[in-house]
Amino acid sequence: MKILFIGDVFGDAGRLAIKKKLPELRARMGIDFVVANAENVANGKGLTPKIIDELREAGVHAFTAGNHLWDAKEIIPYIKNSKCLIRPANYLATAPGSGSQVFDVYSGIRVLVISLQGQLMMGQSVDSPFVAVDRELARWQGRAEIILVDMHAEATSEKRAMGWHLDGRVAAVVGTHTHVQTADEEVLPGGTAFISDLGMTGPYDSVIGMNREMAVRKFVTQIHEHLKPATGDVRLCGALLDVEESTGKAKSIVRIQEKVG
Ligand SMILES: [Fe+2]
Ligand SMILES: [Fe+2]
Repeated sequence: MKILFIGDVFGDAGRLAIKKKLPELRARMGIDFVVANAENVANGKGLTPKIIDELREAGVHAFTAGNHLWDAKEIIPYIKNSKCLIRPANYLATAPGSGSQVFDVYSGIRVLVISLQGQLMMGQSVDSPFVAVDRELARWQGRAEIILVDMHAEATSEKRAMGWHLDGRVAAVVGTHTHVQTADEEVLPGGTAFISDLGMTGPYDSVIGMNREMAVRKFVTQIHEHLKPATGDVRLCGALLDVEESTGKAKSIVRIQEKVG
């Protein structure tokens, strides 16, 4: 199965990039299933039901999240009943939504998607993603042929450790959150595809998505201001995974970085 995992979709530029580019990418690469991290798609902070519907129409099947998930409050009632939007599994058990979902991609092949958030340098207190992912895997045992994990985290060490923790047990561990694509993609010895960060789908003439003049001024003056999303040099970033359906192991992982002009 060919799976496209798309990194943090950022603001209007990212949303439009998906709509413009994804149908063509799916046809060109023969992609069967698409997951996107959508924590930044509503103006850079959060996501809304309307945007999720729009991205589904463009060809995204599953959505993972992260620290910006709750920024747009209308997502709270939506996520309670959503079968496509997944919050990090290591949030409080009382948090709305669920940390994993199974998708029937085609006859007899089910894909389990698990969302996690790191504990290091994230400015939020969450439970251990390592304990949480073991719990999720035990809960779904035997009910999915292919398992994908989004490790939304700042620290490459924590992401890399998650790759090794799950090697041989899942098809892929992909990192999100930093908005900077890393060049360390590989299939680990046990058959788990890994990359520290998929990169951002959004405007690269920016500071990780935000207007660069404003972002630089904020660092220089140390005076807080509300940053606006940038618009230039839009790219769709992520990774293309080829997964053997009979074993649930990855055959390959290829970095994707497509200009959207
Ligand atoms: Fe993000
Ligand atoms: Fe994030």
